[in-house]
Amino acid sequence: MRLWSSLSDRDAVPSFLSSRHPQKPSARCPAGQLHTPAELFTMSIRLAKPDDLLAIQAANLQNLPENYSMKFWIYHAMTWPQISFVAEDQKGRIVGYVLAKIEEAEEDESGNKPQNDNGKPAEIHGHVNSISVLRAYRRLGLAKKLMLLSQEAMATVYKANYVSLHVRRSNKAAIALYQGALGFKVAKVEAKYYGDGEDALSMRLDLDTGKP
Ligand SMILES: CC(C)(COP(=O)(O)OP(=O)(O)OC[C@H]1O[C@@H](n2cnc3c(N)ncnc32)[C@H](O)[C@@H]1OP(=O)(O)O)[C@@H](O)C(=O)NCCC(=O)NCCS
Repeated sequence: MRLWSSLSDRDAVPSFLSSRHPQKPSARCPAGQLHTPAELFTMSIRLAKPDDLLAIQAANLQNLPENYSMKFWIYHAMTWPQISFVAEDQKGRIVGYVLAKIEEAEEDESGNKPQNDNGKPAEIHGHVNSISVLRAYRRLGLAKKLMLLSQEAMATVYKANYVSLHVRRSNKAAIALYQGALGFKVAKVEAKYYGDGEDALSMRLDLDTGKP
């Protein structure tokens, strides 16, 4: 399909956007299955491509109550193709993903940039829409690596000043990942943000864009 072939042409992507993942060789998954060192060392993390979207959607359905139509996944992959990543095992199966977008306030009719509450121009920022790792592959550092690659691409490709996300107040694993492992801070609590009435923590991490 034409759409796919044009999107999968990513030869110009900088090398940091694709990465072999150094794993802990003796990691045991929660189900008790032991991943062999060969399996772990051949897992890789790379940019998500359109062919991955069905597997990403399947992983999302398995791992999270927040699910989206295929239109949503395609829109993100087409619009911001440099900031979403997948983790795949040695057989090429998708075992984790991060899907992100860029939010940039548009200029008004007179060409003025919108301003923040403090009167400064509104900043470009990245937003993580969804991240998950299949149960058998958790606590191997995959989510942290997916997040770091996405954050780096947001800062270098789009000059995003910060990255934001929402997380359920009860999601201890994800909060430990964001706050403990990655340094996110809680910006505010959004009451009853989720469909079932649970509050969201709105979290944020400043990015180093390399700008003076
Ligand atoms: C949250 C999630 C993505 C983490 O994925 P992961 O690949 O297991 O995370 P990592 O291995 O990269 O973890 C990095 C660090 O985060 C913290 N962390 C991750 N999972 C944790 C858990 N269950 N308990 C406590 N800390 C945890 C730890 O500090 C960990 O480092 P360590 O293993 O050296 O202690 C995964 O549990 C998941 O897919 N959950 C279901 C979907 C979900 O909740 N997504 C987030 C929506 S906001």
